[in-house]
Amino acid sequence: MEEQKSQVKKKVIFSAIQPSGTITLGNYIGALKNWTNLQDEFNCIYALADLHAITVRQNPKDFKKNILEAYALLLACGVDVEKSIFFIQSHVHTHAELAWVLNCYTQFGELSRMTQFKDKSQKHADNVNVGLFAYPSLMAADILLYQADMVPVGADQKQHLELSRNIAERFNGIYGNTFKVPDPYIPKTGAKIMSLQDPTRKMSKSDENVNSFVAVLDKPDVIMKKFKRAVTDSDARVFYGDGKEGINNLMGIYSSVTGLTNQQIEKEFEGKGYGDFKVAVAEAVIEELRPIQERFDKYIADKAYLKECYDKGAELALRFSQRTLDKAMKKVGFVIK
Ligand code: TYM
Repeated sequence: MEEQKSQVKKKVIFSAIQPSGTITLGNYIGALKNWTNLQDEFNCIYALADLHAITVRQNPKDFKKNILEAYALLLACGVDVEKSIFFIQSHVHTHAELAWVLNCYTQFGELSRMTQFKDKSQKHADNVNVGLFAYPSLMAADILLYQADMVPVGADQKQHLELSRNIAERFNGIYGNTFKVPDPYIPKTGAKIMSLQDPTRKMSKSDENVNSFVAVLDKPDVIMKKFKRAVTDSDARVFYGDGKEGINNLMGIYSSVTGLTNQQIEKEFEGKGYGDFKVAVAEAVIEELRPIQERFDKYIADKAYLKECYDKGAELALRFSQRTLDKAMKKVGFVIK
């Protein structure tokens, strides 16, 4: 009974990741590490946001492969289907349905201000589709369907999350309390891992320069090479400071992986050069990723197990989300069948 009570009181966590290409060290440190750490304390619901991914053109064969690989990789990172709900977004129809409803409560001006829309529409100038524009209201639907209290994300998703909050508040303001207004959960260190080649820009899986990011599945020798080539500055002392974006970024990565503070890192590398530091960062990352890579090989080889997991995830996700969808539709005045 006591146990049941505490289950009821557990806060709800929701987050998602797009299965578009490689999952990077930025995704891992900024979001996925938190996803797995939160599973004991909270009711966690995680999704592979495949509907979001088609806002940029996907090759069908690669897309399918990427979805399955991303599912296996997240299991390998520690998403535990015994503790959490983990599903593929397109398997749960409530997402697209609530997104449509929320589109009608989201203003053109609000979506126009989204920096990610501005960036992506520049990058994909030949395909500025309505989905790319409306992407944040689908993201709001993802979160609001589960009455999520907190959303673990990297800093780049903060603006989308603020919009989700505004949409929830607007809807609640018109119809009375319908959606929980979610809070972002952004890590203190590692919320924005930067490109290894241009540390003023975010590390991104869609970067054309493969040396700019470390993929969670990169082999140890590749990881070592990428860190050795990381752009730094002409100084030689390892410390955190202005104008040292490259070193600040490497310190952030090292700190997220080892748990050391910046001060402790500065002490560890006193009297040593950037070369030693880069090797140490690479080695720490390699060791962090090694068990994940081993588990990935096991999961990706077992398609039947993957299907069992995502089928179960979709069934549970539908059960929870249908309740909220029905509630919202009823408030708007739809006739519920
Ligand atoms: P996506 O797929 O771009 O990234 C997944 C998660 O990784 C974080 N992230 C980073 N963190 C630190 N440093 C980086 N360089 C870095 N790059 C990415 C992102 O902040 C994110 O947390 N729209 C979302 C997916 C989504 C979603 C949702 C998230 C769809 N629906 C509902 C939360 C709630 C996206 O494109 O993330």
